[in-house]
Amino acid sequence: MPGFGKFARVVGEVRRDVLAARDRDPAARGVSPGEILATWPGIHALLAYRVAHALQLAGVPLLPRVIAMLTRALTGIEIHPAAQIAAGLFIDHGAGVVIGETVEIGNDVTLYQGVTLGGTGFATGKRHPTIEDNVTIGSGAKLLGPITIGHGAKIGANSVVITDVPPNSTVVGNPGHPVRIDGRRVEGPDADWIHLPDPIAEAIQALSSRIATLERMITELSDGEVQPLAEVRPLRPVKGPNPAGG
Ligand SMILES: CC(C)(COP(=O)(O)OP(=O)(O)OC[C@H]1O[C@@H](n2cnc3c(N)ncnc32)[C@H](O)[C@@H]1OP(=O)(O)O)[C@@H](O)C(=O)NCCC(=O)NCCS
Repeated sequence: MPGFGKFARVVGEVRRDVLAARDRDPAARGVSPGEILATWPGIHALLAYRVAHALQLAGVPLLPRVIAMLTRALTGIEIHPAAQIAAGLFIDHGAGVVIGETVEIGNDVTLYQGVTLGGTGFATGKRHPTIEDNVTIGSGAKLLGPITIGHGAKIGANSVVITDVPPNSTVVGNPGHPVRIDGRRVEGPDADWIHLPDPIAEAIQALSSRIATLERMITELSDGEVQPLAEVRPLRPVKGPNPAGG
């Protein structure tokens, strides 16, 4: 069974987790550490993880998984007891966060709701991401495979990242690509990963200009007699509330 030393370490880590929430969550301004400990789901999930992880390291069977399962039911945050998480992790809002078995997380990392640190398939061994110190991962981002996210990097909301991310960079999109490194725009001919080409729109445009050419040729072949142009029906507006609305 884990001894007093391990217990003291867990208490120290939880204390730092609470301070991380106070520092990095604007909603926690003026809220006491006791209230954060009692009402922040990210803190509950981490507290449970730290206990489950200590039990897992001590070789206690079943209990670590039971703790993880109950915590997921309570907070919507699933952290595998074998994951390695250093101090100062802050999980904001929490729901839908998944942290896989071979994930390694450094100091002072921030995760928003819906983040997945997962594998790409059925590989075994190290198959989940390594997140270095001071990384921020936006809501809904999926980081998949044994990749490394360099220290100080920011991952944009809803990005899908399957390759290593350089330190101090900002990565956005699907697939995720750096748009800033050390605060500067990424330069080079292929650097614009935000305004990606739309292959379907390009194919429709090519077909449309081909039809126009054919219609011109038919008009010429029919001694200048104007042929009826292909009917293009305008799209009907979508009924119901505006999908772009807040
Ligand atoms: C990526 C992020 C961290 C911003 O980083 P930043 O270093 O300040 O970068 P910028 O805001 O200058 O954005 C850089 C470029 O990426 C684009 N971008 C930013 N976030 C993006 C995202 N999530 N998806 C796609 N593109 C994005 C910007 O439009 C900008 O494009 P430009 O170079 O053409 O102007 C931020 O946009 C983000 O996604 N944060 C997550 C926050 C979150 O999840 N909040 C939930 C609260 S409940």
